Amino acid sequence: MGVEIKVDGLTKSFGKQVIWGDVSLTIPAGEICVMLGPSGTGKSVFLKTLIGLLKPDKGSIVIEGTDIATCSERQLYEIRKLFGVLFQDGAMFGSMNLYDNVAFPLREHTRKSESEVRDVVMEKMELVGLVGAEDKLPGEISGGMRKRAGLARALVLDPEIVLFDEPDSGLDPVRTSFLNQLIVDLNAQIDATFLIVTHDINTARTVPDNIGLLFHRHLAMFGPREMLLSSEEPVVRQFLNAQRIGPIGMSEEKDADELEAEKDQELPALPPIPLQLEPSNGVARRSQRPPGEWCREHGVTPPPGSFEENMSMATGA
Ligand SMILES: Nc1ncnc2c1ncn2[C@@H]1O[C@H](COP(=O)(O)OP(=O)(O)OP(=O)(O)O)[C@@H](O)[C@H]1O
Ligand SMILES: [Mg+2]
Repeated sequence: MGVEIKVDGLTKSFGKQVIWGDVSLTIPAGEICVMLGPSGTGKSVFLKTLIGLLKPDKGSIVIEGTDIATCSERQLYEIRKLFGVLFQDGAMFGSMNLYDNVAFPLREHTRKSESEVRDVVMEKMELVGLVGAEDKLPGEISGGMRKRAGLARALVLDPEIVLFDEPDSGLDPVRTSFLNQLIVDLNAQIDATFLIVTHDINTARTVPDNIGLLFHRHLAMFGPREMLLSSEEPVVRQFLNAQRIGPIGMSEEKDADELEAEKDQELPALPPIPLQLEPSNGVARRSQRPPGEWCREHGVTPPPGSFEENMSMATGA
């Protein structure tokens, strides 16, 4: 089913450095969310805070009635069992083959027999398309295969929430497309709550139900995909369309002179909103909404050409 994560007034700093403050958002059960933000805005810190690896200074993170910002170590241990995490580099043990890597959480956290472990490991290896590669060492396979092995390992305990920290970094565009399809298919199949941190704009535009953007020590916006893709808010618009014009500069924020200099430049029109990526078996995900529904419900006119079939082909969706 997936579970909801309710974040309220969350603030995190290291010493005097505030990473982000007053972050409030609800990650709906079973939906796919993408979190974006310039490098160093604290996306990884956000993921680590959600699983209780880092303690926030203020605010709450409520999952199934437990506030993991204030709960006991024992409660945290229980809540953590709901999570599967795909770390940026797959975080595989280099000296163990893929089979043992994927089996690791089962041997560590359950009392399953080796034959039960084998059933689960092979089921997850099949899910991510790695059957036949069980005996390989992480160093012997490609980056794309390592990501998929990391994903298999994140899934062995049947998580209700899956966190992905840049699952697509270092992958070529074709492998990124396959991984995105895999993510959507997995969500349809296991119905867990997905939160993906990525820098890939095509992923952000086509995969999620909801998008969030961290910028300048706060959550600039969080909401349905169509809301952000039709937004004229300068930071959102600049980031989701990978433009140079806007408040974001090379070192995070532009100064007043830089902003003044580009004040008269005309902004390019918003590009069409692509269709959302669908499961490959053609059966809609539980949280999938018809194209254009959010825009219609909110009286927003989407950019011309939005939601056209051939358009999604052009963007590789
Ligand atoms: N354990 C820590 N102690 C002190 N500072 C930290 C710690 N972890 C992260 N930071 C700081 O927090 C800020 C945000 O880091 P974070 O890794 O979350 O960025 P990010 O948004 O994930 O960036 P990227 O897109 O490059 O991965 C950085 O300035 C980093 O130096
Ligand atoms: Mg990061």
